[in-house]
Amino acid sequence: MHNDIKEILITEEEIAAKCKEIGQQLTKEYEGRFPLAIGVLKGALPFMSDVLREIETYLEMDFMDVSSYGGTNMKSSGEVKILKDLNTKVEGRDLLIIEDIIDSGLTLSYLVDLFKYRKANSVKIVTLLDKPTGRTANIKADIVGFEVPDEFVVGYGLDYDEKYRNLPYIGVLKPEVYGGEE
Ligand code: XMP
Ligand code: MG
Repeated sequence: MHNDIKEILITEEEIAAKCKEIGQQLTKEYEGRFPLAIGVLKGALPFMSDVLREIETYLEMDFMDVSSYGGTNMKSSGEVKILKDLNTKVEGRDLLIIEDIIDSGLTLSYLVDLFKYRKANSVKIVTLLDKPTGRTANIKADIVGFEVPDEFVVGYGLDYDEKYRNLPYIGVLKPEVYGGEE
């Protein structure tokens, strides 16, 4: 285990089993269709890569990169700025948004509204992690891998100060690493 990690919440094996299960569910769901899978950079990258390889229907991939204005490293401010938009037209398409974690829900709520405005045919959300205690926006994922407690988690795409995204598991940082920042 990495020296900055206090505790592993979800192991590599648990994540792999969950990706398989979600992939089977999505294969049924999108059978005979051609959904557009949209990864939210950068956090969703490992999950997107693993879960999409468990889906056996045709699909297309694209990416968005968004950041929130004026938030801290650990909390979203709610005002979303698009750093990289899609290359694909979403009008009439079935969209599957892939996220690492839903906390306040503000990021996803912005994206869902944007895609509806752009006339997507349907918008579904799959998130690896859900932190329901953090929610301020009225948004719910269609598929949730794991619920996590109200603790800052890192690994498997999730960062603190751009570090730890490459860890193969989800863990909790030792408090001294982030100096108690809120
Ligand atoms: P909202 O609050 O808009 O935020 O749902 C989602 C984004 O906030 C980040 N986030 C975290 N990142 N560990 C992280 O590494 C966490 O515990 C955490 N909680 C929220 C993340 O970027 C996510 O996309
Ligand atoms: Mg992030």
